[in-house]
Amino acid sequence: MAQEVRGVVAPGKNAPVRVETIVVPDPGPGEAVVQVQACGVCHTDLHYKQGGISDAYPFLLGHEAAGVVEAVGEGVTDVAPGDFVILNWRAVCGQCRACKRGRPWYCFDTHNAARKMSLASDGSVLEPALGIGAFAEKTLVAAGQCTKVDPAVSPAVAGLLGCGVMAGIGAAVNTGQVTRGDSVAVIGCGGVGDAAIAGARLAGAAKIIAVDIDDRKLTTAEKIGATHTVNSSTADPVAAIRELTDGFGADVVIEAVGRPETYEQAFYARDLAGTVVLVGVPTPEMRLELPLLDVFGRGGALKSSWYGDCLPSRDFPMLIDLHQQGRLDLGAFVTETIALDEIEQAFARMHGGDVLRSVVVF
Ligand code: APR
Ligand code: ZN
Ligand code: ZN
Repeated sequence: MAQEVRGVVAPGKNAPVRVETIVVPDPGPGEAVVQVQACGVCHTDLHYKQGGISDAYPFLLGHEAAGVVEAVGEGVTDVAPGDFVILNWRAVCGQCRACKRGRPWYCFDTHNAARKMSLASDGSVLEPALGIGAFAEKTLVAAGQCTKVDPAVSPAVAGLLGCGVMAGIGAAVNTGQVTRGDSVAVIGCGGVGDAAIAGARLAGAAKIIAVDIDDRKLTTAEKIGATHTVNSSTADPVAAIRELTDGFGADVVIEAVGRPETYEQAFYARDLAGTVVLVGVPTPEMRLELPLLDVFGRGGALKSSWYGDCLPSRDFPMLIDLHQQGRLDLGAFVTETIALDEIEQAFARMHGGDVLRSVVVF
């Protein structure tokens, strides 16, 4: 039996979001209905609202979530009703070339739940943000989007791993392969950059240099694990990073802004044969011009990090365990918990740079 729940909808380009009644159908084959317990507010939700991702309005926003499986459809064996799960935005096929080569984050054939949820008012079919749509009391997803984790962890903390925090930790640990004793620089210390700092710390980096243009961000970065900070609005970050690394540059530089000038800083701030990890997402019109001789001569690797190159079934339970053991403070990323009807205000605070994460709790 389809059920009606409250959910946050972006009705049209730049229009304020609205709490609406959503119709959630029973799960079909391979699907699950999840009772959402917490969902973080991410920049991507704001981009959906603003029309920067697609114009397939109306959107059901929210994609950084944890909750309890309420019901599963035919053929679902990996999760069962009652399981506490973190949602991921890619249910991978397991069959394509990317999956078979062990890089499912590049899966060509993702199997997220079909667009089956709708608005109760006029029946229009909703497009769930990143195939999730979790600013809702319940949502319909593919069972492959659910990863079971220890139910003892707080949902507000668990949900963070569904997107931004996983992207940052994974950029350091999975893509950058930061290892014990490394020097790491992180350019841009928002939620993603700070998570990269937490990841670098977890991996045993000896030096973690946080770079931002906002002193408030640098203060938070230090709390999360930065050993040095550079305000790049007053100091040349490349020179500062070199100076802090005996003139060499960092072994791994993580760019978490998504702008040409910070891409370029990341490129020059690494040691010869070092690794640059690009996690900040640029816009389509942005260009980067570099002397080819520098590209050739500096060696090393330029890698982009897609969803932290994560394997949800491997990484989500592991990071939750580390958090439970007190070795990774995921709680530091939750600035505030809010109600479902406070998302517009949360967008405004995000824009003002006041919060790492506002998390809706149900
Ligand atoms: N140099 C250094 N830091 C900068 C600069 C700059 N030129 N411009 C902005 N910043 C800082 C901001 O002060 C802020 O602390 O970058 C940080 C960006 O953080 P958020 O806006 O909170 O964004 P976040 O959610 O962390 O995402 C960062 O990663 O996954 C991507 O799409 C995401 O491109 C975005 C990036
Ligand atoms: Zn695949
Ligand atoms: Zn996100």
